[in-house]
Amino acid sequence: MDSYAVIGHPIGHSKSPHIHALFAEQTGQAMRYGAVLAPLDGFADTVRRLVGEGYLGFNVTVPFKGEAFDLADRLTDRALRAGAVNTLKVEDDGRLLGENTDGVGLVADLTRNLGMELRGREIVLLGAGGAVRGVLAPLLAEAPAGLHLANRTGSRAERLARDFAELGPVTGGGLDSLAGRRAHLVINGTSAGLDDEVPPLPDDLLHPGANCYDMMYADRPTAFLRWAKAHGAGRTADGLGMLVEQAAESFALWRGVRPRTEPVIRALRPVQP
Ligand code: ATR
Repeated sequence: MDSYAVIGHPIGHSKSPHIHALFAEQTGQAMRYGAVLAPLDGFADTVRRLVGEGYLGFNVTVPFKGEAFDLADRLTDRALRAGAVNTLKVEDDGRLLGENTDGVGLVADLTRNLGMELRGREIVLLGAGGAVRGVLAPLLAEAPAGLHLANRTGSRAERLARDFAELGPVTGGGLDSLAGRRAHLVINGTSAGLDDEVPPLPDDLLHPGANCYDMMYADRPTAFLRWAKAHGAGRTADGLGMLVEQAAESFALWRGVRPRTEPVIRALRPVQP
């Protein structure tokens, strides 16, 4: 049977096998999808071994997205822009195609699932690491009025903004650069939430009813979404929908069919008390 896997370290809590099993069932595709723990110094060897066993594609997660970029024989434009690969496809000639579906997954969740308008809006994106780089090009393609990157280390955000300046109105700075700004949408792309923290943000950052999105997901509201609710946000959402949407894009690349995501997001969403 056609085989796929997600590769990471750690990998135990990955929801990808469940998501892809639901996609396969829904679309009637005969395939299996596993989770593989690669040693920290053995990502490339793991991929080569699995390809040798006949695997046809992989999702790649922390901390291997940069190595997957280096390993790919061919890269899509999106992967090149992102500087990272979250999806590998074994092509007919055995070469590895590297793609990045994180950004299109985020945009699909924001616009299609949540109905959040991006065109002509002022967006603030918190962070300047790999996760933020990976979503910048698809966000700018939505033609926001402005996209401001604010990061604890301001120079990283400034550099990232310069790297993407040709794609749209993107600026960058430290967290102090948020003073006096008003956003229609604030997206958290920092990893501060892993420690249940929020970067310090001005109390008046949100336009009344502004939307807030956390690229992280958790079984309860993240620290950033708690901040958002306490500061007048309209709609808030965590990154579960992005996770399912980026998976759907990978699935479509491998199988040529795009699954419906809404029932899968519903199936994965923890029941609220
Ligand atoms: P990822 O691949 O998740 O983006 P990363 O490249 O290490 O990981 O980037 C982590 C991001 O979260 C960075 O923007 C980081 O800020 P710095 O560039 O200043 O390090 C941000 N971050 C992590 N912990 C944070 C915290 N407690 N407060 C504010 N920002 C934080």
